[in-house]
Amino acid sequence: MIYLDNAATSWPKPEAVYRAMDHFMRHTGANPGRSAHQPSIEAGRIIYETRESLATLFGIGDPTRVVLTSNATEALNLVIKGLLQSGDHVITSSVEHNSVMRPLRAAEKRGVEVTVVRCMPEGILHPPHIEQAIRSNTRLIALNHASNVVGTLLPIAEVGLIARQHGVLFLVDAAQTAGCYPIDVEATSIDLLAFSGHKGLYGPQGTGGLYIREGIESSIEPLKYGGTGSRSEHEYQPDFLPDKYESGTPNSVGLAGLGAGVRFVLEQGVPEIQEREQELIRFLTDGLRAIPDVTVYGDSDPQGRVAVVSFNISGLTPSEVAMQLEEDHQIMCRPGLHCSPMGHKTLGTFPQGAVRLSPGYFNPNEDLERTLKAVGKIAAARARC
Ligand code: ALA
Repeated sequence: MIYLDNAATSWPKPEAVYRAMDHFMRHTGANPGRSAHQPSIEAGRIIYETRESLATLFGIGDPTRVVLTSNATEALNLVIKGLLQSGDHVITSSVEHNSVMRPLRAAEKRGVEVTVVRCMPEGILHPPHIEQAIRSNTRLIALNHASNVVGTLLPIAEVGLIARQHGVLFLVDAAQTAGCYPIDVEATSIDLLAFSGHKGLYGPQGTGGLYIREGIESSIEPLKYGGTGSRSEHEYQPDFLPDKYESGTPNSVGLAGLGAGVRFVLEQGVPEIQEREQELIRFLTDGLRAIPDVTVYGDSDPQGRVAVVSFNISGLTPSEVAMQLEEDHQIMCRPGLHCSPMGHKTLGTFPQGAVRLSPGYFNPNEDLERTLKAVGKIAAARARC
């Protein structure tokens, strides 16, 4: 089997991730921060280490500013639902995932004003268009770091500066870049960074998080309230991080796995992972572009994108291509709209969508050679019909 769906979730995971989760289940097991016994203290230590590794990865000085969530969607909802109030204005781009678009559309019903800045058909965003959209009531700019449809990187450093200069909060959705592209919250003026744990950070599904810059938490209501193991004498939610946003028993085993995944990333080095993924994407896009009747979407420069490539074969639907790739060649990919109808409208591929291939750090070159041959065969067979 050739797995090319790493943009949905990475697989396989580093061995250390399997070991950390197995060890947690067999030997730790307890609920962190709830009891004074040894296994509970150990569980708390493991989760704190995960927080520390994430802080190191993203250039965050204080690990308690990393709130652990069940995925990037929860982190994005936390900000959009907890921060924005009727009369506020928010700016976003036309290549966002529904994890941003849907909470924003729901916020519109509560009186929040939303401006969607149009990207180029390759997914490229021009920062001046963001600046031109800023109004006196603009509270937030919410952008993904890279499109999950075409992988195009958005200019977050430039937009971060614009946001800072105008006193607007800047939320970055790093679901597709965390672990495979360098991110430094200070250098990029990021106020809020949402990330998934199960993609480039190699944790299991059900993990993710949110960085919240110091001082902003007083303006963000929690998404959920409940037990935190701290200040148990109070019926009111604690106001300090991370407890303010982390009610209920956490996914401790998942977070043990996430910690091991992030340590793997730190050991390999993000630049090393990025370079390998760029090699893969260059090989794949060049190979696909050379196949007759194949249209490849997105920026042609591999420097400007992460390891995601979307394409179509003329005369076939994306689902037909994906079915043939799986049934005849054992290649796993994701066809359709990728939870980003707006992204596909920007590319000009709505409503049929596209076939998305997303290789990962562990795919050998041979996987991509076999994939290119398979796509060539499918396109040639269709042309003969
Ligand atoms: N957002 C993930 C994807 O693009 C699930 O497939």
